[in-house]
Amino acid sequence: MCGIVGYCGPRKAMPVLIQGLRQLEYRGYDSSGVAFLQGDSINVVKKQGKLVNLENALPSRAASTIGIAHTRWATHGGVSDENAHPHLSGNGKVAVVHNGIIDNFVDLRRELQDKGYEFKSETDSEVLAHLIDYYLDGTRGPEEAVSAALDRIEGTYGIIVLFKDDSELLIGARNGSPLIVGVGEKEMILASDATAFIGLSRQAIFLDDGEMAVISPREYRTVNRHQQEIQKPVEEVDIEAAEAMKGEYEHFLIKEIMEQPDAVSRAMGEGGRLLKDFGTAKLGGLNLEKRDFFDINRIHILAMGTGYYAGMVGAGMIENLARIPVQVFDASEYRVSNPIVQRDTLYLAISQSGETADTIMAVKEVQNKGGRVLGIVNVVGSTLARLTEGGVYTHAGPEKSVASTKAFTSQSTVLALMALLLGRMRDVPVRRGKELVDALLELPNKIHRTLGLRDRIRELAKKYKDYQSILYMARGNQYAIALEGALKLKEISYIHAEGFSSGGLKHGPLALISEDMPSVFIAMDGETLEKDINNIQEVRARKGPTLVVTDSDDPRLEDVSDDLLRIPKTDEVLSPILTVVPMQLFAYYVALELGREIDQPRNLAKSVTVE
Ligand code: AGP
Ligand code: GLU
Repeated sequence: MCGIVGYCGPRKAMPVLIQGLRQLEYRGYDSSGVAFLQGDSINVVKKQGKLVNLENALPSRAASTIGIAHTRWATHGGVSDENAHPHLSGNGKVAVVHNGIIDNFVDLRRELQDKGYEFKSETDSEVLAHLIDYYLDGTRGPEEAVSAALDRIEGTYGIIVLFKDDSELLIGARNGSPLIVGVGEKEMILASDATAFIGLSRQAIFLDDGEMAVISPREYRTVNRHQQEIQKPVEEVDIEAAEAMKGEYEHFLIKEIMEQPDAVSRAMGEGGRLLKDFGTAKLGGLNLEKRDFFDINRIHILAMGTGYYAGMVGAGMIENLARIPVQVFDASEYRVSNPIVQRDTLYLAISQSGETADTIMAVKEVQNKGGRVLGIVNVVGSTLARLTEGGVYTHAGPEKSVASTKAFTSQSTVLALMALLLGRMRDVPVRRGKELVDALLELPNKIHRTLGLRDRIRELAKKYKDYQSILYMARGNQYAIALEGALKLKEISYIHAEGFSSGGLKHGPLALISEDMPSVFIAMDGETLEKDINNIQEVRARKGPTLVVTDSDDPRLEDVSDDLLRIPKTDEVLSPILTVVPMQLFAYYVALELGREIDQPRNLAKSVTVE
């Protein structure tokens, strides 16, 4: 699920492969490895833990000009050197790196063992090496052997195969896990993510499911599963954009949090996606005629994790402004629920990476049933961006930290534009539309001001870091932010956190409250502030410490909270885009205080390309 790289060309392969793996590190992994041709054999070096463990184990001089490499995010078999990839076939003829899951590996393993193949790892992936070797029986060449092996595979894969007897050949194949070919000057690189191409190639071919790439330094061929040659477009990738550096920051996460004023501004096309005079938005990529919008009676949003919470924020905005019923679904659940797909429903898939398997499978299910799906995606050219019939890029720039932050605010901003556009076509008058356009344009500056709470939050983190568990509470359009705040905290600090509706407090969670259980409340000005203050009181009455985020000047908030964070006011519809910022900063500084591995939290990966 993490990263694969392959190289063949005139350079020494090792530095290219290691740099490629380094660029893919952000995706999260638990071990890494390389295979390269040395003399007439394939050498494999693999190590659990960080990339530096692998680097320390590499031979100082490896002159090989062809090799494959892998970062593993274990799905089958523990984290160990043996289970790390590449996997070598019994007689050392074939080495394979694999991202994904082989569903039928138990049967294949048994079959291969019966044929005398010995397995060295507990992974599902190892069957690939032996199976390809088995089909390399003298009657088939490498390409036919890989193809025959893949015919037997059920599951998902992005693979690259290296052959002992062919010093200029790499074969890549894709089914469900991304694989891109970088075409260089007499050299080729294959990787699961174009960031691995930095310094090498800008010309890329994006493989689709069921396709294979047969690569040598001077040429490539792309073939389908029936080994028929297919012509694929060579596309220019913006590698500089994909390259992200931490710069002055200690972690990508804080850098990405701090970048949000710019990211949100880009999500609005620097203003270009707004029509000031008409108080509406313009989203060209939707590929929908204005008239098509009249036929939308319902919207279903499909996403996972933080994208799901952005979906909740968007649902509130669309229902508020456009009065179109919106439901948000956990894509993994949607897919297995035999969804009712209807003509008058618009389906929206939200994803930062565009590679999330659960979301992709849900989209395919909708498409198979005839539904029209639009994407709100960050990574240009990603699987979801290509799969959907139209959509809007969030243009948040590369998000490297596993915990999603600027993607969330950008997704929410794009959803706000959609809500405005749909709203203006229905009930929203131009005056209100203009008000929202102004509020949107002021948003980057307000995020900037909210980021000014950084030092204060850093101090608070010292106070809250030692609790075992923290509750998050909010109501109305802030409820999603309570859930997102809790997700951020648990993900990077490993402190247990749960989000609840403030109204739900008395229906269960209140039983948890004690002096050892703090609560973060979002209590915004307006109709529900009274109720929020009551809820905070209820927690206080049971000695629960309270940290309150608000945009209100109500002096009672000072009395009821232990700690109070005031953020700027914005239009109520847009306010979740601001309240999430202190949640992100709080999670970051708590994790920092606890010395956690912030950008790559344990057990998590940036793009979850397996279901
Ligand atoms: C967010 O902090 C998480 N790492 C995770 O929930 C993420 O949002 C989810 O996996 C969806 O990813 P996507 O946006 O790339 O589809
Ligand atoms: N399923 C394989 C394993 O557990 C591949 C994991 C990955 O995609 O990194 O080794």
